[in-house]
Amino acid sequence: MTVEGLPMAVPAAGLPARVRIHEVGARDGLQNEKSTVPTEVKAEFVRRLADAGLTTIEATSFVHPKWVPQLADAEQLFPLVAGLPVDLPVLVPNERGLDRALSLHATRVAVFASATESFAKANLNRTVDEALAMFEPVVTKAQAQDLHVRGYLSMCFGDPWEGAVPVPQVVRVCRALVDMGCDELSLGDTIGVATPGHVTALLAALEEAGIPAAAVGVHFHDTYGQALANTYAALQHGVTTVDASAGGLGGCPYAKSATGNLATEDLVWMLRGLGIDTGVDLDRLVATSAWMAEQLGRPSPSRTVRALSHKEQ
Ligand code: HMG
Ligand code: MG
Repeated sequence: MTVEGLPMAVPAAGLPARVRIHEVGARDGLQNEKSTVPTEVKAEFVRRLADAGLTTIEATSFVHPKWVPQLADAEQLFPLVAGLPVDLPVLVPNERGLDRALSLHATRVAVFASATESFAKANLNRTVDEALAMFEPVVTKAQAQDLHVRGYLSMCFGDPWEGAVPVPQVVRVCRALVDMGCDELSLGDTIGVATPGHVTALLAALEEAGIPAAAVGVHFHDTYGQALANTYAALQHGVTTVDASAGGLGGCPYAKSATGNLATEDLVWMLRGLGIDTGVDLDRLVATSAWMAEQLGRPSPSRTVRALSHKEQ
């Protein structure tokens, strides 16, 4: 349990007053679990996240069930949570995925591109440009139906097969996603190799290419313990949407070196300390992640979950 007044809220100059957390635990987190979590447990997870004050909760993916078996129950799960008063984006790689999402009245979808050829092949069985061509009709059709469309871009900082990824290579694909009609981007550090200077350089290059920080979210994985430092750099640059995963669940089934996402609790702790509003009830969120860790049979990797769960005993 949190102690009243901790962390002490001490604002720092040049940061936003409010941050929107895009919660990805139920999708990015659970897609990477060895075992498949029962549909009702997933639904309960989403309900508890909503109850903890998260307002954007990525629910599932309408991808090929053979590629991501953990999310093969998307048709069963989505209706169980659809009535919650929160935004429930879902991933759709192609028109087939979009049609599945539309048949369940999803209102927010995300396509997911790659900045590198190797990951595009591994994740989507396409080259980078073939994947963009696959997304084009998806975005057009989604926009025509007034859906909000997020464009993820993976491997923005480094790639397990190709190493460092040049900034202009990332900017090119970002530009293509924006030109296609994506409403917002999410810059993925899929294997967690970004450092703050690199984050700032990419955001500056995007701004120069006409893509302002306001249109960009950041999606950090915490493999090398840099996710919060990277988030801070992004906030200083004007970003106000941050992806995070309750309890630090996550990774990526097609990038084995990826470990957990930035834990939502760690993010909320830092933002509280900076006096930045998120609308999240940290105690409820920690309780949710502790409950989920029990379901998964292993402790949460989040430092904040561990510290605050410990205090409860
Ligand atoms: P493919 O094998 O090239 O598919 O996979 P295809 O277009 O050749 O179609 C083959 C068969 O799949 C067809 O069936 C299609 O109907 C069916 P058949 O005619 O042979 O019976 N099919 C589908 N079935 C259900 N739903 C669909 C669908 N599409 C085709 N949507 C494909 C291409 C894109 C489908 C595949 O590669 C795929 O599903 N990939 C998804 C991988 C994935 O979800 N990865 C994790 C998410 S990305 C991520 O985690 C990164 C992120 O977190 C950010 C970061 O950290 O960087 C977002
Ligand atoms: Mg991810």
